[in-house]
Amino acid sequence: MSGINYSEKIPNNVNLSEDRTLQRALEQWQPNFINWWDDMGPEGSTDMDVYLRTAVSVDPQGWAQFGHVKMRDYRWGVFLNPGEEDRKIHFGDHIGEKAWQDVPGEHRANLRRIIVTQGDTEPASVEQQRHLGLTAPSMYDLRNLFQINVEEGRHLWAMVYLLHKYFGKDGREEADALLQRNSGNEDNPRILQAFNEKTPDWLSFFMFTYFTDRDGKFQLCALAESAFDPLARTTKFMLTEEAHHMFVGESGVSRTIQRTVDVMNQLKTDDVAKLRAAGVIDLPTIQRYINFHFSVTIDLFGADQSSNAATFYSSGLKGRYEEGKRTDDHVLKGNSYKILSVEDGKLVEKEVPMLNALNEVLRDDYITDSKGGIDRWNRVIAKAGIPFTLTAPHKAFHRNIGSLSGAKITPDGRVVSDEEWMAKVGEWLPSNEDRAYVASLMGRVVEPGKFANWIAPPVMGINRQPVDFDYVRFN
Ligand SMILES: [Fe+2]
Ligand SMILES: [Fe+2]
Repeated sequence: MSGINYSEKIPNNVNLSEDRTLQRALEQWQPNFINWWDDMGPEGSTDMDVYLRTAVSVDPQGWAQFGHVKMRDYRWGVFLNPGEEDRKIHFGDHIGEKAWQDVPGEHRANLRRIIVTQGDTEPASVEQQRHLGLTAPSMYDLRNLFQINVEEGRHLWAMVYLLHKYFGKDGREEADALLQRNSGNEDNPRILQAFNEKTPDWLSFFMFTYFTDRDGKFQLCALAESAFDPLARTTKFMLTEEAHHMFVGESGVSRTIQRTVDVMNQLKTDDVAKLRAAGVIDLPTIQRYINFHFSVTIDLFGADQSSNAATFYSSGLKGRYEEGKRTDDHVLKGNSYKILSVEDGKLVEKEVPMLNALNEVLRDDYITDSKGGIDRWNRVIAKAGIPFTLTAPHKAFHRNIGSLSGAKITPDGRVVSDEEWMAKVGEWLPSNEDRAYVASLMGRVVEPGKFANWIAPPVMGINRQPVDFDYVRFN
């Protein structure tokens, strides 16, 4: 079951050849996907051979095989984790019943919407990142960018398979539309706002892969609990790919900080102007980038009170993060949860029914997880003996969805006037000047083993290769 059949046009471990209609439908979608990749995928990458990992089996030991390939020849396909025999629904109103191998009619519209929303983010991030290859700080980083891009492409395949197999004509139309919307397109944008933002530079890219790919992790974890078994199995496999994306983000920011603190110690200064003259990214700017990406990403979890969230949970479509490890009744009917709102110029906590607050529950789990990396970044700074601490902003800072939407709240959680906000926002969010400075550092470095001045080399290479390995061959 877990072995992947590569002899077919579409690699898969779902016995695709036994379902001729589905196979034909996916084979018709395939050239459209390749056209999308050629138009919207990594710019100028067509002739490059990239040292990529490809899934050969979904077993934890050895799902990856490494080799130099052209990205458009990457073996995108359909890979599901093996099913559990007799899997039971373990939360919501159907708790204890058999997991669904097909889509129940009454949940069809909601499930389709969940799958389409998830699927839409996958090609969106490829589009957001398509120019970054032109300014890669090293060949190693270029390879990591491309690895993420091809895997987001595969995540799109994962969702398109579900749409084609389980949602008939509607599903096929949705699958086509996933290739028609484009990130930032005025007439036909991607569904979620964070996926219409630009990823203009590599610091943004590392922040995006640390914070926003982590949103992906939490959404996928919640879907991996789903009563709809094919969705649970496919998202479980996607999660194994997602881990590398977050590693790229965390280590990328960490290496940026490492280089900055090294230069701070060499020059014995924390003066921003001097550090910028030396071509590194000062720590206050890194803090502002954290504030931006953290706040934009936590909006992705949706409104703090949501009847859709309650429906998705009670009907078994989407669980909580690590649902199985929790010790409550997994139905949550009488439970409550605290959310924040602004009343009389103050942030106050309010108890609301937990079922309606499940977006907030997932957001809070995400926040705990994402703070871990910030702690590790602080260790790099502390080790260099520099008295500076990066922090996650308050969760009410710079929010655009739910009851905190538009409230003026500082990164340390103080409600302020519009005037104070306007006067100080340049200290809290990246200014045009910050972004222009970071952009000015971006220049292509691709000789093996060489790195741009603003970033330290990684501790080790990919797949135990040396750091100066030729990860990308330009031909
Ligand atoms: Fe993804
Ligand atoms: Fe990802």
